[in-house]
Amino acid sequence: MTEKKLGSFKDEKLPPQHIAIIMDGNGRWAKSKHLPRSSGHQKGVQSVRKIVKHCGQLGVNTLTLFAFSSENLNRSSEEVGLLFKLFLTVLKNETTKLNDNNIKLKIIGDLSVFTPEIQRLAIDAEKQLKNNNGLNLVIAANYGGQWDIAESAKKIAIKSVNGEIDPEKIDASLFHAHSSLADFPKVDLLIRTSGELRISNFLLWEIAYSELYFCNTLWPNFDEHELDAAIEAFHLRERRFGKRNGEK
Ligand code: IPE
Ligand code: IPE
Ligand code: MG
Repeated sequence: MTEKKLGSFKDEKLPPQHIAIIMDGNGRWAKSKHLPRSSGHQKGVQSVRKIVKHCGQLGVNTLTLFAFSSENLNRSSEEVGLLFKLFLTVLKNETTKLNDNNIKLKIIGDLSVFTPEIQRLAIDAEKQLKNNNGLNLVIAANYGGQWDIAESAKKIAIKSVNGEIDPEKIDASLFHAHSSLADFPKVDLLIRTSGELRISNFLLWEIAYSELYFCNTLWPNFDEHELDAAIEAFHLRERRFGKRNGEK
């Protein structure tokens, strides 16, 4: 069987502007190969590289990746330590490659739990890549959708108390403007790998009208062809935004 050409939909249709991915299944991938969970997470980084590059080539505006949820802090200290170490290594080793690919970076989440070194590397990486104008890569680390909503509420409350915002003027767009993804297009497509059918406190506010795509592939096996399949499925969806078929 000949393999389908990557990005073959590209000539007819625009890719989704903003794709978000819950990268799940690293542990099960490792288990299936009788390897330690750490190998699953390491292999998962290879999928990240492939998908970031492919999104850049397809002309996707923003890719948001769920790397580490606020609830993942409740895993064993061994695994949390491992994930922190991997985050550190990725920040150290990948920034130059991201720069070569004209990628801009934003890290969202409560970064205060990370070591000072990780926090500094995260800020430095964002700074180093800030003048690029290719793909916007957003990494959600120690991120929770509920945390993000509470943070927006807090920022608005402080501005209201200081007299910078009239509480009567608080609406959905003002709320959105105070959220972590305020500077990016709306999330068109949310993908979750590994067969779990839940959001696990990832983006909550932002997925009001996102198309949801679940696949059984474990994240370390997710590649460019899998992403193309998700995008093709997205193109077959009819997005009505509350209107009726065909209404403009
Ligand atoms: C996703 O893989 C990566 C993180 C949550 C950090 P998991 O570690 O959740 O893998 P499974 O779900 O146990 O297979
Ligand atoms: C969600 O996966 C978090 C990330 C992929 C980073 P989990 O594996 O933590 O989610 P649950 O616990 O199965 O809901
Ligand atoms: Mg999981």
